[in-house]
Amino acid sequence: MSFTDGTYDGRYIFVNDKANTRVARVRSDVMKCDRITEIPNAKAIHGLRPQKFPRTGYVFANGEDETPMVNDGSVLDEPEKYVNFFTALDGDTMEVAWQVMVTGNLDNTDCDYQGKYAFSTSYNSEMGMTLAEMTANEMDHVVIFNLAEIERGIAAGDYVELNGVKVIDGRKGQNKRYTRYVPIPNSPHGINTAPDQRHVVVNGKLSPTCSVLDVTKMDALFEEDADPRSIVVAEPELGLGPLHTAFDGQGNAYTTLFLDSQMVKWNIETAIRAYRGASVDPIVSKVDVHYQPGHNHSTMGETKEADGRWLVSLNKFSKDRFLNVGPLKPENEQIIDISSDEMQVVHDGPTFAEPHDVILVRRDIVNPVNVWDRNDPMWAETRAQAEADGVDIDSWADTVIRDGDKVRVYMTTRAPVFSLDKFEVTEGDEVTVIVTNLDDIDDLTHGFTLNNHGVAMEVSPRQTASVTFTAAKPGVYWYYCQWFCHALHMEMRGRMLVKPRGA
Ligand code: CUA
Repeated sequence: MSFTDGTYDGRYIFVNDKANTRVARVRSDVMKCDRITEIPNAKAIHGLRPQKFPRTGYVFANGEDETPMVNDGSVLDEPEKYVNFFTALDGDTMEVAWQVMVTGNLDNTDCDYQGKYAFSTSYNSEMGMTLAEMTANEMDHVVIFNLAEIERGIAAGDYVELNGVKVIDGRKGQNKRYTRYVPIPNSPHGINTAPDQRHVVVNGKLSPTCSVLDVTKMDALFEEDADPRSIVVAEPELGLGPLHTAFDGQGNAYTTLFLDSQMVKWNIETAIRAYRGASVDPIVSKVDVHYQPGHNHSTMGETKEADGRWLVSLNKFSKDRFLNVGPLKPENEQIIDISSDEMQVVHDGPTFAEPHDVILVRRDIVNPVNVWDRNDPMWAETRAQAEADGVDIDSWADTVIRDGDKVRVYMTTRAPVFSLDKFEVTEGDEVTVIVTNLDDIDDLTHGFTLNNHGVAMEVSPRQTASVTFTAAKPGVYWYYCQWFCHALHMEMRGRMLVKPRGA
């Protein structure tokens, strides 16, 4: 979720689409996606985190899979030409602000509470293509991004332009003003900034350790000849397979142990004292989870308002936990009470495979509307087209506009009727149906589903929605409302006649 001054502000939710290298934005007031941006150059957007301070601002997005810098189909087996990209998206415009070329596959990302640094874990620092090549090194790294220096570099013209994006070279051994590479054992995965606004926990995955970074030491890290490990202030051994860490706002961290199938609660300050040589044990307690936890999240835990009440463990395997429903098993999401030192699992929740990540937001922050505002920008283009067509979409409309091979069908709904009970088009026409729901009662959603055309859309109270399709083979096709809206809901339907072309 978007941030203002270090805590969730309830404006937007951002979602990464690894498979298609895209980032989507969901408006929290209507719970609808209003923008999708395909990220150039990068491949496979994995870790994603909005800037915490002063606001979002940037949305940081990790490119996981390396490709040739100029990826035009001419290069396959020249590994030295492969690079990865870290992207800063502008959360307000959803346009790419800049990118940084990096070494290694970027995994997860987070940023500080001061607005100065972002950081990404990286596996495959070797830039290998096969499993053996990718796991050759004992140490991988965390890349630290110096935001002010990157902005200065962009302003000074120290970039290459690739596919319309300004790209800074922050590869290992290149310009150290922009990035630093901190060696971390081994194949680190999750990276999570603590609500103390100072410490960052890097989760070792193939190492039984977590590494704690101190953001107050990052300015010095960017000085000439700085020891790259100088920002590591603790490295507690927690158990097998640490993947992700959540926080309670009281100095404690909660790390998922994938291989041990446990959650471990540990104290950050005690871990720092142990790293300095004190014989103290940072581990407070452990609890079994079922089984193999990946992400976890505490209530408000990635904000400065972490409340220390609840923790969710997103377990990757449920094995024998639920009734057998076939080879594809549900996963298990468990809720853990973290209000005392002994963690208590209080709920098991089977979920469809494979849920991945979650955030837990205090409910007063999320305040969606009940019915749409008729002037919502979501259908501004449709409104402009309707005005050009001489149609008033705010009142009872039943107009069909023919525009060459394009047909625009305007209709409205009031339970239990569509204003148009039939319309005619020609085979092969590109048909756009625009439906405005004039009902303004909470929860009175209608739908428009058209037989055999792959068309089904929701039209909530006071919403205008549209869908475009090609009229298929000649015949009569019924459209109907798919929300049970009224005692006469089954009767809420109409016909589209598709006439043969040339008849
Ligand atoms: Cu409208 Cu069912």
